[in-house]
Amino acid sequence: MTTRRGFLTFLGVGAVASRVRAAHARRATAMSEWTPEQFQKWSETMRRNASAQTSRSGTEVLALVERCSALEDGSGVTQKEHCLQTATRALRDGADEELVVAALLHDAGKLFDGMNHGAIAAEILRPHVSRETYQVVRNHTTFEARFYGAHLGPYEPPDRSCVAPVYACIDPAAYRNMERESWYPLAMRFTGEWDQRSFDPGYDTLPLSYFEPMVRRVFGRRSFALTVSTRDSGTPSRP
Ligand SMILES: [Fe+2]
Repeated sequence: MTTRRGFLTFLGVGAVASRVRAAHARRATAMSEWTPEQFQKWSETMRRNASAQTSRSGTEVLALVERCSALEDGSGVTQKEHCLQTATRALRDGADEELVVAALLHDAGKLFDGMNHGAIAAEILRPHVSRETYQVVRNHTTFEARFYGAHLGPYEPPDRSCVAPVYACIDPAAYRNMERESWYPLAMRFTGEWDQRSFDPGYDTLPLSYFEPMVRRVFGRRSFALTVSTRDSGTPSRP
């Protein structure tokens, strides 16, 4: 026994450390082996943290919109300015609060993926908004393509051998396939009146701080428990 270990043993520190190590060794670290006590502690902690989760969601959404200031696409405004301007136009046009928040977030998915940005933003919104708002944001790129699709080269249906630039695969007329959807008029208004007009650097756009209370209210709503579904429209309508 070394002098150091002997000294620790003398102090009783070694015995305490051994007991702590033994306790950790007994504690299951795989969920499949958890004890009822571990499950109880886990679920109680999640319940306690539920309110913190809702306030964190709002904070994260505001941070996403803020980070869109780094996205410059040659349109004359940053994606943050574009999102703010789209939300400002929606607000001034009498849109309800969740639609204004949807407008604020609608292009933030570009931080992750350009082609699928509508679907990304829609899934962030989905637990807190109506099915109609969800579908409008999810499909806004298809509706928006009626303004720019024809300027980006001929439409080529995507397939596995498609080697064309990604934007050449956008069909400017695809939005017509959704004419029978209940949210079709709203998608036309969202893109035609608010989204496609919001590239004006001289517009009197409201700051992000103006929308913060709206974001916190919408993301502070009790979220839907989303069910597993193979249908895109699996979200029930908020009453
Ligand atoms: Fe947009």
